Amino acid sequence: MGIIFDETNKVFLLNTKNTTYGIAVTDGMYLNHLYYGKKLEDTNIRYLLRENEPPFIPSVNQREKNSFLDMAPMEYPETGMGDYRESAFCVRSEGGHRASELSYQSYQIIAGKPELEGLPATWGGEEDCTTLELFCRDETLGMEVQLLYTVFEEEDAITRSVIVKNAGNSNIYLEKVLSTCLDMDDRNFEVIGLFGSWGRERHIQRMPVGYGRQNIASFKGESGHQEHPFMALVTPETNQDIGEVYAMNFVYSGNFIAQVEKNQFDSVRMLMGIHPEGFTWKLEPGEVFTAPEVVMIYSDEGLGKMTRSFHDLYRNHLIRSSYLHKKRPILINNWEGTYFKFNERKLLDIAQEASKLGIEMLVMDDGWFGHRENDDSSLGDWFVNEEKLKGGLNKLVEDVKKTGMSFGIWVEPEMISPDSELYKKHPDWALQIPGREITQSRAQYVLDLSRDEVVDAVYEMIANVLRSADIQYVKWDMNRQLTTMGSFQWPADRQGELYHRYVLGVYKMQERLTKDFPYILLENCSSGGARFDPGMLFYSPQIWCSDDTDAIERLAIQEGTALIYPVSTMGAHVSVCPNHAVGRVTPFETRGNVALLGTFGYELDITKLTEEEKEKVKVQVQNYHKYNDLIREGDYYRLASYAENGCYDSWMIVDKNKKRALVFYVQVLARANAKSKYMRLKGLDPNQSYQIDGNHYLGSTLMNAGISVSAEIGDFRSKLLDLSTNKGEFSPHH
Ligand code: DGJ
Repeated sequence: MGIIFDETNKVFLLNTKNTTYGIAVTDGMYLNHLYYGKKLEDTNIRYLLRENEPPFIPSVNQREKNSFLDMAPMEYPETGMGDYRESAFCVRSEGGHRASELSYQSYQIIAGKPELEGLPATWGGEEDCTTLELFCRDETLGMEVQLLYTVFEEEDAITRSVIVKNAGNSNIYLEKVLSTCLDMDDRNFEVIGLFGSWGRERHIQRMPVGYGRQNIASFKGESGHQEHPFMALVTPETNQDIGEVYAMNFVYSGNFIAQVEKNQFDSVRMLMGIHPEGFTWKLEPGEVFTAPEVVMIYSDEGLGKMTRSFHDLYRNHLIRSSYLHKKRPILINNWEGTYFKFNERKLLDIAQEASKLGIEMLVMDDGWFGHRENDDSSLGDWFVNEEKLKGGLNKLVEDVKKTGMSFGIWVEPEMISPDSELYKKHPDWALQIPGREITQSRAQYVLDLSRDEVVDAVYEMIANVLRSADIQYVKWDMNRQLTTMGSFQWPADRQGELYHRYVLGVYKMQERLTKDFPYILLENCSSGGARFDPGMLFYSPQIWCSDDTDAIERLAIQEGTALIYPVSTMGAHVSVCPNHAVGRVTPFETRGNVALLGTFGYELDITKLTEEEKEKVKVQVQNYHKYNDLIREGDYYRLASYAENGCYDSWMIVDKNKKRALVFYVQVLARANAKSKYMRLKGLDPNQSYQIDGNHYLGSTLMNAGISVSAEIGDFRSKLLDLSTNKGEFSPHH
């Protein structure tokens, strides 16, 4: 059983295969954090609370209750009563006062995991996970708070969320409802986060944790290019293989904060949840608010183990798509190939040529609707531009199918162009503050998805398009962040709910889309990878990683993304050179090898490739078929990081039954007079013999001594090493 309550010690223990999380009830009311780390076999851990040290606990020393609140490790710290560290929860009463004091009431342990209403979340059956619900109450406000913990034993993961109910008689206003808090003694922690920009998403950054507060956040209305809803605290020696890691990842796609605070007593507090900036939520008597969940992973075997726990959890218990365990069609997207300049003839030419080379799907990107010839107009006018696509959408799709390819389409449902029929009809549907100019970004406004009528109407327009032809794939884009947060639907004291209501609106639309069109492969996207988060993965098995398709730039982007997310979720395409984002020229093979660690596809005008390049496409297509089951389902190991060493990059994937593996190596800049490099492999069976290029090596030798991976002369050269044992065939996950 993953969750135990020790009645005598008033201690809850949440156990996964390798970890333990401990909570104590103190003085019959406080929920204190006892422990998180490597698995403990003992429930006798109450002493960890230091109840016998000053300031003692309130029942012993009521006159110093304030010191207790400010020093004790708290499970869910609140504003206003004496804990001066950053709180996780702040509520304002009708009288304008900001304080609460939750008192523990009772608990319930249930097999499985209840859904979080309207929110994406990890899921699992009675066999997979156990949930602890801690019921708390603030008497003064008549408010009930439920802290939820679900333990996924196999994946070494614990998820947390919070449900608040106004069980009193007057309104209350939630000003901050974070989803998790972790108080611990400092161990010289360093903090790891993912940072970036458009075209440079999710680069790994590591910094020391100093006194005070350091946070990673977004108030852009989406998770964003720049910062990422992920934070890990690591002990200083941590690398891929050793060291302790406390990681949090937010299953949410809007404003977030992740914060670490080191205080006067050398304690650290790690928090994660919806960013309180711009957030208030009015709860009328009887109403309930649910905070999105945070996934927590602890690893005592470095970052690599953390990564593999996230990958397994997300593949087994987050992503729902029926495509998850399937080889996805190799697609060709026309965006970098044509941008807005295409017609049905051009698309058919691409489809014809692509089909000959083994590519399986054509995706028509931005520019097919309204009167859109550039990014100045037509968002919201979700009907085909028949001047551009003569004969209409259905005819185009049927013609593409005749080439042997299936068809996918791009949409941007959350937006409205000022130059659109939709805006002429419904100017009030854009998010806006009366009397204030709406801020444009990419010449577009954001739809007010806090309103059900807007969600319904836009969804219907998109659904009509999807019903009008045999469309097998949708790329759902979102190309600007939120501003001028105002809605005509809501009264003044509910305008603070807009950011969250907007995200709930997006989730509603995606939920409907995936239910109504279960056969459609959905790929999320946000101006490249600005909304690559677990919330979106609940709806789509893959997300476009970045608009930077340069193979070398992609190394750091994909390394940072794969730190948390399964490689099967990373949208990755081969594009032309000089690369459109950076102008770099890289070998065609390397572009293919880099895109293999992801969904794999093409984003170019294939009719313009040379015959030699077309032959290379065929080889890449073969590689995809040969390796995709392994890459999609296997265990990912990071061997070397170009972002760290400035020289070369290497990863490998090992089949779950350790019978096959694939190693990728790229030499970024060539060096004169250099010896070959021995890469020490990981994750193999030490006692198995593996075959590489006809030679046999023992797993332990490959892992301890390594294998030579020198590439040929030249920059940006890459190599794949194929490892297989003599025994047994590769067996995919399901
Ligand atoms: C941003 C996406 O990331 C691109 O792939 C492309 O779809 C454009 N938007 C289209 O406007």
